[in-house]
Amino acid sequence: MHRNIILIGFMGTGKSTVGQALAAALDWTFVDMDERIVEKAGQSIPEIFATHGEAYFRDLESDVLHELAGGAKQVIATGGGAVLRPANREVMLKGGLVVNLKADAETIIHRVKGDANRPLLAGDVEERVRKLLQERRGMYDYAHLAIDTSSMQVDEIVKTILAHAT
Ligand code: S3P
Repeated sequence: MHRNIILIGFMGTGKSTVGQALAAALDWTFVDMDERIVEKAGQSIPEIFATHGEAYFRDLESDVLHELAGGAKQVIATGGGAVLRPANREVMLKGGLVVNLKADAETIIHRVKGDANRPLLAGDVEERVRKLLQERRGMYDYAHLAIDTSSMQVDEIVKTILAHAT
């Protein structure tokens, strides 16, 4: 069995929802990295971006990831941009099974529309999602396992991960 299971993927691919269900199935701890960052900063994600900028957020994100990666029996839902730094990708690969949750652009847009908590999607959500998907093409491909969640139920996704993890 792997030490941890680390969920990566673009915004709106189901990392938090799947992560909670997976942790419950394994009786492991669920950790949402964005929540840890908010606790650490004492500010919401949009506030961190607005007052300190994205680079500061990325530093906090790397700190939280490094702190968590040494632990065990955790399902870790990363933020969609946690894969951007090569050092983070390395830490994840050493920390456990890395699972890439994917979804097509339409599904992502449908899931994230109306959520004001993602500063990188401010403005025209559809345009922002398509542009970022383009910019991040291939960035999630280093995972041990990839699952397209577009038309899957949460329990099916959990079963698929468990089949690979055990
Ligand atoms: C981001 C994704 C967000 C959050 C922040 C930046 C990104 O997490 O970390 O808004 O760069 O893709 P989710 O993937 O959980 O939405």
